[in-house]
Amino acid sequence: MRYLTFALGKGRLARTTLELFEKIGITCEEMKDKDSRKLIFVNEDLKLRFFLAKGPDVPTYVEYGAADIGIVGRDTIMEEGRKLYEVMDLGFGKCRMCVCGPQSAAELLKHNQLIRVATKYPNIARDYFHNKKHQTVEIIKLNGSIELAPIVGLSEVIVDIVETGSTLKENGLKVLEEVCPLSARMVVNQVSMKMENERITKLIRDLREVIM
Ligand code: PRP
Repeated sequence: MRYLTFALGKGRLARTTLELFEKIGITCEEMKDKDSRKLIFVNEDLKLRFFLAKGPDVPTYVEYGAADIGIVGRDTIMEEGRKLYEVMDLGFGKCRMCVCGPQSAAELLKHNQLIRVATKYPNIARDYFHNKKHQTVEIIKLNGSIELAPIVGLSEVIVDIVETGSTLKENGLKVLEEVCPLSARMVVNQVSMKMENERITKLIRDLREVIM
């Protein structure tokens, strides 16, 4: 039996995934060692391999088949636009992709004005404004602390993730429009889905039982 390889988005996503996997009898003891600098972890008995990657790289590993399965946020899947199968909503990491800004920017959205949109997700933002709203906007790519942009006058609005809403609140910003709901998803390489169908289908079935 060959190894089934999982790419997990680093951080909370990976930790929650491993907790979920433990519930269906999939463990990886060596991955729990926080001081370890190892990048890849093996469960010999189950013939499974796990590695941690930066979230946006997970769909890349899965498309090329370097990982059979990936666990990553729906935001990253949408932004990266890779060829893969999205097979399952894992039900955790729930949040929303939103257009946010000061209340005063709500008018600009209503009247299809040419506005600047700062975001870590240029593809999602472009798709939303150009294809869904038919509004011409200038997209400005940032890498973090997106909420700063409308405060310091870089953009009129932002497209960003809202979880509890406290970052917005503490900075005097509001959700102006919702783009889509988000959560952690399982993605599968298109060839692996055929070649390892039995093992992957069983994994999905087992996970469904503990998630439902
Ligand atoms: C994310 C997101 C928001 C915040 C939302 O940022 O970009 O800034 O969390 O969470 P909240 O609604 O619970 O306040 P993250 O902390 O990942 O860091 P970043 O600013 O580097 O993107």
